[in-house]
Amino acid sequence: MRLLLLCLPLAAPQEPSSWESVGEIDCLAEGARCFGCHTLNYCNGHGKCEQKGGPGSPFANCKCDPGWGGDAFCTERTCPFGKAQSDMPTSVTEAHSLKECSNAGFCDRLTGTCQCFPGFAGTACQSKTCPNDCSGKGLCLTMRQLAKMKDALPLNDGFTSVNNTDDLTNLPEPGDPTQNISIRYDGAMSRSGLGGPTYDQNLNRACLCDSSWPVGLGPGERQQAEFHGPDCGQKRCPSGDDPMTERDETNCTGVVAAGGRGVGRPGNICHVDCSNRGTCKDGLCKCFKGFYGINCGKRTTRY
Ligand SMILES: *[C@@H]1O[C@H](CO)[C@@H](O)[C@H](O)[C@H]1NC(C)=O
Ligand SMILES: *[C@@H]1O[C@H](CO)[C@@H](O)[C@H](O)[C@H]1NC(C)=O
Ligand SMILES: *[C@@H]1O[C@H](CO)[C@@H](O)[C@H](O)[C@H]1NC(C)=O
Repeated sequence: MRLLLLCLPLAAPQEPSSWESVGEIDCLAEGARCFGCHTLNYCNGHGKCEQKGGPGSPFANCKCDPGWGGDAFCTERTCPFGKAQSDMPTSVTEAHSLKECSNAGFCDRLTGTCQCFPGFAGTACQSKTCPNDCSGKGLCLTMRQLAKMKDALPLNDGFTSVNNTDDLTNLPEPGDPTQNISIRYDGAMSRSGLGGPTYDQNLNRACLCDSSWPVGLGPGERQQAEFHGPDCGQKRCPSGDDPMTERDETNCTGVVAAGGRGVGRPGNICHVDCSNRGTCKDGLCKCFKGFYGINCGKRTTRY
């Protein structure tokens, strides 16, 4: 009995309960070209067939259920929508309209899932990934997170009291489709008063590179991290004061940090690869002729 039940064929296709037309249209009687609901196969059970132009009209169309569409018959899946990563603005203040897969991926019409282009992620490709996963030498953080980091570039002396563990919790998942958050950047914004709400502060991401020494504008901190580059793929070399100059290049007191948003406080350190007397590769100095030492900070007596 049980087996028999299992083997029963599925019920024959029926008009879906969402059928709301006043009735199927008699195309022959109407004479004209007919787009009645039956010709739309009753939207394949994935939408409502609605008569256009009221009862008696020979025209009908499908209003597909969420997640279905792609064609007039609701046979294909649609994918999640997100704010377009790139599109044409529609006015001076409007851009990034809602687009399937955020204009940053293909929609797989069989499964309704986005296949994101490289560099994009999320159910609607609405967020960005970090280059090369930060080479395993850094954290991939959102712009909102980075804006609060005292050691994220550009260094900003407005954030010296905030440390790296702040704000790393309770953030929306990268795939979170709630994109209507209009919190301003917590970084330079609050100081300069420029800019406006940023829709992508939780979606755009970049690397905060690791460093074996503290990074920042404070005393004992260096303005440059050990690992650097967009993907943290480069490693700095031993640092030192240039033996050929009067000035101490490692003294970053009063030195404006890259990006121009902060100044080294007393005791702040500048990292000087190979004391400016050699080339740096993969963390190792190759000293110019006449200089030696792990950081090329020593001069040979004869040269
Ligand atoms: C980092 O910030 C957290 C939260 O504000 C604080 O509890 C912690 O003591 C701070 N750590 C350091 C090393 O400053
Ligand atoms: C986003 O907008 C929806 C609908 O307007 C609202 O229900 C939701 O609370 C909003 N989310 C945020 C994080 O503001
Ligand atoms: C670093 O430079 C500042 C300003 O030029 C100077 O006042 C300070 O004495 C220097 N520090 C050291 C340790 O040389």
